[in-house]
Amino acid sequence: MAIASNITLTSSIRVSNPLNVTGNQDQLYRLFSNLIVNAIQYTPSGRKVTVCLGRSDHYAVIQVQDTGIGIPQPELTQIFDRFYRVNSDRSRSTGGSGLGLAIAQAIVQAHYGSLDVQSELGKGSTFTVKLPFDIRPNWGMAKEDKGNKGYK
Ligand SMILES: Nc1ncnc2c1ncn2[C@@H]1O[C@H](COP(=O)(O)OP(=O)(O)O)[C@@H](O)[C@H]1O
Ligand SMILES: [Mg+2]
Repeated sequence: MAIASNITLTSSIRVSNPLNVTGNQDQLYRLFSNLIVNAIQYTPSGRKVTVCLGRSDHYAVIQVQDTGIGIPQPELTQIFDRFYRVNSDRSRSTGGSGLGLAIAQAIVQAHYGSLDVQSELGKGSTFTVKLPFDIRPNWGMAKEDKGNKGYK
């Protein structure tokens, strides 16, 4: 799709270790494909879309950044509503239903995460997904492990 639209799609991994997020694989695939498809659809030919993976204390942080048409500030909260499309004329050529972000939001919430957007009209948008990653069980807290030097 990116090639057909002449858009450079790249990724940037900013973590040194793999992050494991527990969840429904199909739904998580759908979440990111909805965001990436939007980024490509709402970015003019010749520009770029970047997907970044980073982390904060307890979350995997995935950002889908585009350099596209952007979203007017007053509509930034409404775009997550079912069937909401910014200025239907503007979006008509993509033939979307206005459901993609509502679905993305529902998937993120089902995984105890968050979905936020920042955007500048004419410059581009960044959608940020935060998903809690698996933390190793704290063996040191278990009763039988008290005083066990093997676990820290
Ligand atoms: N990356 C983006 N850049 C600019 N506008 C966007 C972007 N993603 C979503 N939008 C706006 O938000 C609206 C809702 O998105 P979505 O729920 O995926 O519906 P659809 O893409 O089917 O219209 C879109 O119609 C579009 O106006
Ligand atoms: Mg969409």
